[in-house]
Amino acid sequence: MDSILILDFGSQTTQLIGRRIRDLGVYTEILPGDRKLTDADLANVRGIILSGSPASVYSPDGAVPDRRIYTQGVPLLGICYGLQRMNKDQGGTVEALPQREYGGVEVTVSIPPTNHLFFAAFDRSILLSDIIARQVPAKSEASTVSFMSWMSHGDTLTHLAPGFREYGRSSTGFPAVVLHESQPWFGLQFHPEATHCERGIEIIAAFVFGVCACKPEWTMEQYIETVRTSLAEKVGNSPVLLLISGGVDSTVAGGLLLKTLQSDQVHLMYIDTGLMRKNETLTVKDSLERLGAQRLHILHCEDEFLEALKGVEDPEAKRKIIGDLFITIQEREVCNLGLPESYFLAQGTLYTDLIESGKGIGKKAHLIKSHHNVGSPLVEAKRKAGRIIEPLDRLYKDEVRRLGQLLSLEESVIRRHPFPGPGLGVRIIGEITKEKCAILREADAIYIEELKRRGLYDEIWQAFGVLLPIRSVGVAGDLRTYGWVLALRAITSADGMTAEVYPFPIKDLLEISTLITNTVKEIGRVTYDISSKPPATIEWE
Ligand code: XMP
Repeated sequence: MDSILILDFGSQTTQLIGRRIRDLGVYTEILPGDRKLTDADLANVRGIILSGSPASVYSPDGAVPDRRIYTQGVPLLGICYGLQRMNKDQGGTVEALPQREYGGVEVTVSIPPTNHLFFAAFDRSILLSDIIARQVPAKSEASTVSFMSWMSHGDTLTHLAPGFREYGRSSTGFPAVVLHESQPWFGLQFHPEATHCERGIEIIAAFVFGVCACKPEWTMEQYIETVRTSLAEKVGNSPVLLLISGGVDSTVAGGLLLKTLQSDQVHLMYIDTGLMRKNETLTVKDSLERLGAQRLHILHCEDEFLEALKGVEDPEAKRKIIGDLFITIQEREVCNLGLPESYFLAQGTLYTDLIESGKGIGKKAHLIKSHHNVGSPLVEAKRKAGRIIEPLDRLYKDEVRRLGQLLSLEESVIRRHPFPGPGLGVRIIGEITKEKCAILREADAIYIEELKRRGLYDEIWQAFGVLLPIRSVGVAGDLRTYGWVLALRAITSADGMTAEVYPFPIKDLLEISTLITNTVKEIGRVTYDISSKPPATIEWE
């Protein structure tokens, strides 16, 4: 399958480049910018993109790509640092700008009289589909086109390397589009992958389809077949155990295993801690049974968890108790299954989980998906034995959702908001009791149901209720009441690292509040949490 290789020099938007190209139907891989490239790394690679970087090409942390990229005849696209890197590697110079350029900057490109496919992307008269179909009419005259790009850089090209020529300039007077005269090498000072870059997708498509001639072969149907082949080779007839959390990733991973292996080979284990959302266990069970699960092990451990949490108020202590008990139960129950030593442990790890966070360098960090499994002896032992399989480890979250749809998982499971491992345990502030779990579960379900009914659920990244450890005075008819206080939380976010408060229309908030207090008698007052992250976190504990 045709593929685009992205060399990651540490830019915040490297992942976005990968996702944009995958959305166009072409497979991408991200590797560290300074990696020594093997033949295997370059197999099927039709083009290489050099990403941006927080570093300068002159600084010691400015990574240098393998010289091989310049000798393979493979088309190159340098973005920001990637362009500066190519220019420097080929003998040009790069220097610091008097001040950093950041945000929207207009770029004007001079389009030569040619039918060169890369330039076609800049021409308003040409549709993206035409570019993909390679039906680009030749033009007789040179023309210019301007658009608003998105930039973030502190350095600029001062002398172009031999063979490079400037075709576009920023309104601030610096080279913005640079092409090589005889090699298929292209450089952009701006970020076409950024959401706010006008014509960015067209430019990427022009490179991927027009220059690299990639075929859009990356589909989820194709992915299922690839997984089927690789699992058949690796797993054979051995049993596979997957721990299901109720979240999208592990449920889709379960569906994929059931689709690609014999269903009696696939053991799915789900631990109900008693801290789950309303009907969560039932929904997970139904979904997996519908997908053909034969060996579904649902463990009801509510009493064990509540007993261990009795009288505990400290958030960290609660998290530790829940996490430790989860691992203890997991170890015990896996033993009880009596699987042969040769069984494989599957995890719902995603592509983004494998990219080392923070540095943004495309190294496999072997992160372990669920916090419950971090340091879990079971996972560690299996990893050492080479018996871990991660069938989603090539996919982005959006692709996991698409795969879920293809596997016929319900939309309610696929589009479900994230839920923390300790569950309601970190949403009941103070001591956790069975009664409080029931109150919160009911109120939270009303809230979520209303968001769905009002068409707001998919606009919100995460929404939930938090039961506060205070009671407040109220009235019901002639009676004085003394009910619990519920805080509603709703945020928008890209990845949960930062979050904005969802700006609810007040009418919705008022109606939802009334519905909750009318239905859940134990709740006397509802508040809305208006704190962003930072300084607050998304969860309250
Ligand atoms: P915070 O509260 O740290 O949450 O802003 C960021 C995102 O992570 C989720 N979260 C967790 N997920 N185990 C998880 O699997 C946990 O212990 C945990 N704590 C927080 C939280 O729901 C939000 O989506």
